[in-house]
Amino acid sequence: MMPPTVFAFALFALTFIGSQANAATVEHTFHIRNLTVSRMCKEKVILAVNDQYPGPAIQVTEGDSVVVHVINESPFDMTIHWHGVFQLGSAWADGANMVTQCPIRPGKRLTYRFNVTGQEGTLWWHAHVSYHRVTVHGPLIIRPKGGTEALPFPKPDDEVTIVLGEWWSANVVKAEEEVMRSIFSTISDAFTINGYPGDLYNCSG
Ligand SMILES: *[C@@H]1O[C@H](CO)[C@@H](O)[C@H](O)[C@H]1NC(C)=O
Ligand SMILES: *[C@@H]1O[C@H](CO)[C@@H](O)[C@H](O)[C@H]1NC(C)=O
Repeated sequence: MMPPTVFAFALFALTFIGSQANAATVEHTFHIRNLTVSRMCKEKVILAVNDQYPGPAIQVTEGDSVVVHVINESPFDMTIHWHGVFQLGSAWADGANMVTQCPIRPGKRLTYRFNVTGQEGTLWWHAHVSYHRVTVHGPLIIRPKGGTEALPFPKPDDEVTIVLGEWWSANVVKAEEEVMRSIFSTISDAFTINGYPGDLYNCSG
């Protein structure tokens, strides 16, 4: 038999470890600023998070709290939307420009805080002002609480995140203005995989 004091300690330790595991906080800082990249044989200044296009992946386990400090170093208004996150009890963190918040003005910052509860899967986050989402976006991966064991398929040998997107050689703000003027959507110049047009384009780099 375990002496009662030892048992109580063991129980406390388990509870403590359990609550730590359940309530992890995943924190990121997003600097949104200009980045010069070359695609389709042309240099272009795009907006990107932390000089990455696509932007950094947010990796969480269901039940975690997410804290993202968004620092808008761009010349445009900005918000970030956490696409598909339920936002239970945190609707103001949804990032819909002029719906759940006023935009983050150039030179200003905002901290988004929300918990990821009752959902799992591979989602994404993106800018929710104008067409800036074209380059200001990234994965948001919610893993099940039970880890790899809880996945509904055998443990994979490897995991690769694939972000499918579109590339406009033209200025994306002008592309959006064109859409607003006509009923026709402007057509992108390329489809992208992790930010790069595929090898079938004449000039992908
Ligand atoms: C960033 O790029 C925009 C064009 O999209 C330009 O107007 C602005 O001056 C640039 N800002 C900096 C700090 O380079
Ligand atoms: C998010 O989780 C933290 C830690 O469990 C809690 O303190 C906070 O109230 C939760 N926020 C919401 C909006 O539920």
